[in-house]
Amino acid sequence: MYLCICNAIREKDFRAVAPLCRGSAEDIYRQLGHEPQCRQCLDDADDILGDVRCCAA
Ligand code: FES
Repeated sequence: MYLCICNAIREKDFRAVAPLCRGSAEDIYRQLGHEPQCRQCLDDADDILGDVRCCAA
């Protein structure tokens, strides 16, 4: 499932990188080699990031 349509970022790829990056969802996008475009996905990305960090704690 795609998390970010503009950059074709899959949720599974975002989740794989999230534990390796301390920054924001935007920082994780950059880690994946992309920049946010329309930004409509960032709320969902932040929710997923919170989920990943909560489960890792
Ligand atoms: S859907 Fe992610 S930047 Fe547009």
